[in-house]
Amino acid sequence: MLFKSPRGTKDILPQESGNWQRIEEKARAVFSLFAYEEIRTPIIEESKLFSRSLGDLTDIVQKQMFLIKKETDTFVLRPEATASIVRSYVENTLYNVAGVSKFYYMGPMFRAERPQKGRLRQFHHIGCEAIGSYSPYLDSESVYLASKIISALGISGHDIIVNSLGCINDKKSFALNLREKLLVHKKSFCEDCQSRIAKNVFRVLDCKNRQCKDIVLSLNLGASRICGDCQKHFDQVKAGLDLFGVNYQVNPLLVRGLDYYTRTVFEITHKNLGSQDALGAGGRYDNLVEELGGPARGAVGFALGVERLLLARGESQVQEEQGSVLHCYIIPLGDEALKTCLKVLQLLRDNGIRSDLDYLDGSLKSRMGRADKNRTKFCLIIGDNELAKGTGILKNMSARTQEEVKLSEIVKKIGET
Ligand code: HAM
Repeated sequence: MLFKSPRGTKDILPQESGNWQRIEEKARAVFSLFAYEEIRTPIIEESKLFSRSLGDLTDIVQKQMFLIKKETDTFVLRPEATASIVRSYVENTLYNVAGVSKFYYMGPMFRAERPQKGRLRQFHHIGCEAIGSYSPYLDSESVYLASKIISALGISGHDIIVNSLGCINDKKSFALNLREKLLVHKKSFCEDCQSRIAKNVFRVLDCKNRQCKDIVLSLNLGASRICGDCQKHFDQVKAGLDLFGVNYQVNPLLVRGLDYYTRTVFEITHKNLGSQDALGAGGRYDNLVEELGGPARGAVGFALGVERLLLARGESQVQEEQGSVLHCYIIPLGDEALKTCLKVLQLLRDNGIRSDLDYLDGSLKSRMGRADKNRTKFCLIIGDNELAKGTGILKNMSARTQEEVKLSEIVKKIGET
């Protein structure tokens, strides 16, 4: 029987993992510049954490959680990390630390969605959360940080869309008002939206169905629907974005699918991505720390989807950055030579020279053929003749030259090039 990776999951093979590492490294460098520090939380959490944070009626909680039942407990493979980080912030009383706590994280998330291009069941986030301030300029900084990471990865052609949902009261009255307006057209909406009107009314605003979109547009929902304080906050967020020189558009229909958001929300889209066009998204969530048992603390963050960053970067960069160079590939000819080769291998590695040994048999030609010509600098061949002289044949793979070198000088010889 041949096993396959579960539907909607993907192996990241060695020829791809270099790209992942480079994306992670670049993101880490930018996070560090912005004074964020890494946090690692468990991949499993109590399922209630997400129903409490994201909302009972959200798509994620209703349909997409991978549940693990163990005795009387129900765990879930985390569908996102914001709730986990707030849980950790409260559990570890990190709110006692003065100032804003700035966390970044990278890792797998799990949602039982219907897989398609750019949509997986196990996907990866690079994200961050800044907890401990209500300042609108922290929102501007968060959006700016997301755009800095995206450009550090060599991605261009993305759009940044921002909106403000207002405070909890604004959200409540908008929900009431919206429901009333949508109910007038109820029969014309798709089946999903008909149930969303009752359960999760904001989701109607990002339905992809053409007819639903047209009705929503005709309702002219753009008009101001947030209170004076929230409007002032949003104006300052925009002023901060202008100050940082971030290009953005305001879209009053941007709502986001998670309940914890208040005030600023944003999404970054890219045209290379097809229907799943969000490279990343985030926003402010000023009530979540309290909701999870902590003190009142403002917070804002975002997450970028790594698979989508890779798609947006395109094939050219993937090719360009493939693989690391092997400095020396050692080919022993015979059992005696093998022992010496193992010692030379150890010596090279101890001196920081990336090396490997041909552990297989065969003709010299086939063994040389195993050294990847594009990624190997030297082949070192040692047989009985060389062994007797304490030497080896060093082949320069790109120059196609060879010379006999003393093994006692091998580190210096290879290290020089
Ligand atoms: P989210 O919009 O659910 O937000 O996810 C963020 C990003 O993750 C999306 O924009 C997309 O790039 C990627 N993504 C989401 N689902 C999938 C999937 N099934 N397959 C591939 N990529 C996916 C959050 O999760 C929030 N926690 C972000 C946040 C942090 N808000 C505040 N702080």
